[in-house]
Amino acid sequence: MVNLDKYSSIFIANWKLNGNSSFLKDYYEKLKVNSNNCTIICSPSIYLKSLKGNNENLFCGAQDVSSFKEGAYTGELSASMLKDNNIDFCLVGHSERRQHFAETNDKVNTKSSNLIKENIIPVICIGETLEQKEKNLTEEILTSQIKDSVPNLANHQNALIAYEPVWAIGTGLTPTLDEINQAHELIKNFDQKFIDFKVLYGGSVKSSNSKEITNLSHVDGCLIGGASLKVDEFNTIIS
Ligand code: 13P
Repeated sequence: MVNLDKYSSIFIANWKLNGNSSFLKDYYEKLKVNSNNCTIICSPSIYLKSLKGNNENLFCGAQDVSSFKEGAYTGELSASMLKDNNIDFCLVGHSERRQHFAETNDKVNTKSSNLIKENIIPVICIGETLEQKEKNLTEEILTSQIKDSVPNLANHQNALIAYEPVWAIGTGLTPTLDEINQAHELIKNFDQKFIDFKVLYGGSVKSSNSKEITNLSHVDGCLIGGASLKVDEFNTIIS
């Protein structure tokens, strides 16, 4: 399992349903990984056996995993198959999967647990919708998602949490810096066991705001969607 304690910051590129072979080749040729940081590229799964080379601070992450271990589940990829292909990280419970693919907290919990047992670090995504934020339900939603999505065997060395307010994803909107820091503090203080967890922020991160977000005391890195598709922009974010 990757030693997370080694890194001051963690940056994850979530390419979502984007990219092709030539994009990938060009991207890895231009990518400049900073050795203080852990950099993870979550490409679509067919491209996971990528051109990443031998950079010890650059890792491949999957965007999803099956909740089943094996059997008659057409189209699925199991945690052990990811491990077999040297995948070290996997996003779980991204809001797009919760929204479009009926991913429940229970499923996120099972998937995360299966990943940890295969020595793959789950990046467990949580976050409130705009409607929930407007009803002042952010704290309630985050705490119930943590309680139900994070498996008992998770700890700060084998799992990551990503706070992604749903309303900030792909919209250009972000919470204020204070709101981001407070949400991360809330997550870390939810229970004694979460105090040392690394918590990443995601939602409209770009080169112009990544530094001030990453510098917040309770933020340990970023999960980046759209801006991670432009390698020069991503290089600036991780530099
Ligand atoms: P954007 O950076 O495009 O807002 O997407 C965030 C995200 O969903 C990362 O997982």
